Amino acid sequence: MKPINIGILGLGTVGSGAVGVLRNNAAEISRRLGRDVNVLMVATRSEEKARAVCTPETKVTADPFDVIKHPEIDIVVELFGGTDIAKDLVLQAIENGKHVVTANKKLLAEYGNEIFALAEQKNVMVNFEAAVAGGIPIIKALREGLSANNIRTIAGIINGTSNFILSEMREKGSDFADVLKQAQALGYAEADPTFDIEGHDAGHKITIMSALAFGTPVNFNACYLEGISKLDSRDIKYAEELGYRVKLLGITRKSEKGIELRVHPTLIPESRLLANVNGVMNAVRVDADMVGETLYYGPGAGSLPTASAVVADIIDISRLITADSGNRVPHLAFQASEVKAQRMLDMDEIISSYYLRVEADDKPGVLGQIANLLAKENVSIEALIQKGVIDKTNAEIVILTHSTIEKQIKNAIAEIEALDSVNTPVVMIRMESLHDKRGE
Ligand code: NDP
Ligand code: HSE
Repeated sequence: MKPINIGILGLGTVGSGAVGVLRNNAAEISRRLGRDVNVLMVATRSEEKARAVCTPETKVTADPFDVIKHPEIDIVVELFGGTDIAKDLVLQAIENGKHVVTANKKLLAEYGNEIFALAEQKNVMVNFEAAVAGGIPIIKALREGLSANNIRTIAGIINGTSNFILSEMREKGSDFADVLKQAQALGYAEADPTFDIEGHDAGHKITIMSALAFGTPVNFNACYLEGISKLDSRDIKYAEELGYRVKLLGITRKSEKGIELRVHPTLIPESRLLANVNGVMNAVRVDADMVGETLYYGPGAGSLPTASAVVADIIDISRLITADSGNRVPHLAFQASEVKAQRMLDMDEIISSYYLRVEADDKPGVLGQIANLLAKENVSIEALIQKGVIDKTNAEIVILTHSTIEKQIKNAIAEIEALDSVNTPVVMIRMESLHDKRGE
């Protein structure tokens, strides 16, 4: 059979990885696919880089529009990242009748609806396995493997950089800034690493998974984002003493009230598998009605693991290239006509349990006042521990609550902060037990 011709946009961490995978595993890929995959053209600003990674037959251009216009290219592989030129390139590639593979979660979380609509219209496929959790085939699991189920909850460690930072800080006591530099040098971090540490990258990924799980349009605007940059190492330590690990989780959950979509640091009991996912590894836990709980674990970033997912998408598209659109897997897992917006819950409506740390005057009655304010807001206390005296007059109090509505914990926090005996803002970190249907 005639080879599939691909054009690759960008020879950065993932682009050069993809060329490497296609070269190193060419024989196995061809054995699986029944035809060769030919890298016909790459767009890069560095001819030298192209010559180092590509075969001499690959055409090299500095103008990415040469790739999307090339009449012999079947699949355009977008690995530029971002939403500026990448958006134009992907839309124009689709307009030109090209199938697209992309690792660009930002592009899909923000413009996925427009891109998938155009792809339906033009009868082409847009595959994006590498966009969520790097090398883990979670998109395939959500779109195909779990298609007999109603998905209830997805909770995942889906930003390798943040997990790497949290793991190094916990295990080695390393400094936040030093570990971030390491993650950048290893090719894990986004071009703008604030996307990793402020939760945007995880937000893009959980937004995509939420749409696939619940059959909704992608809706990044509805995603609550809170990153790890403000985490205090004291809270990581206290959480550990209480039998918990702090992880940056992306969570989406469907209930009768609507859909939750959020990213924030989360205390997880140390016995849970997710609590033991360390370094750049990612893991996604899916709770679905027929199969129950399934867990997907693997490298969430890095050149070859991400390229593995990119190349799998190229193979998938190559296999289905002659299938009519009705026989392909729908972009958002559900038939396009069945993708419907659903009510997205405001953070005040979610139900969670909470870790609170309060710095207060070390004098009689203060604990009682705090407990009373929590009770007034109907917040039930699971544990209340005085961690010790910070200085001669101030004590630290750590409280774990049972599950409650977020609005009520926020009211209680506001009232606690208004006490004369409380001198600094209350630290609040959400907790997930990850063991039941509700997960709180
Ligand atoms: P890099 O920054 O390493 O590479 C992007 C490359 O795109 C650059 O090296 C550059 O190639 C090229 N490029 C970008 N803009 C232009 C432009 N305007 N004109 C010409 N070339 C341009 O990024 P990554 O490889 O890390 O990421 C690529 C995509 O993959 C992103 O969407 C990212 O979110 C996603 N991703 C990354 C993962 C990772 O582990 N790194 C994991 C999962 C997804 P050149 O230098 O050749 O000119
Ligand atoms: N910057 C991302 C991460 C790359 O750290 O997980 C993978 O999407």
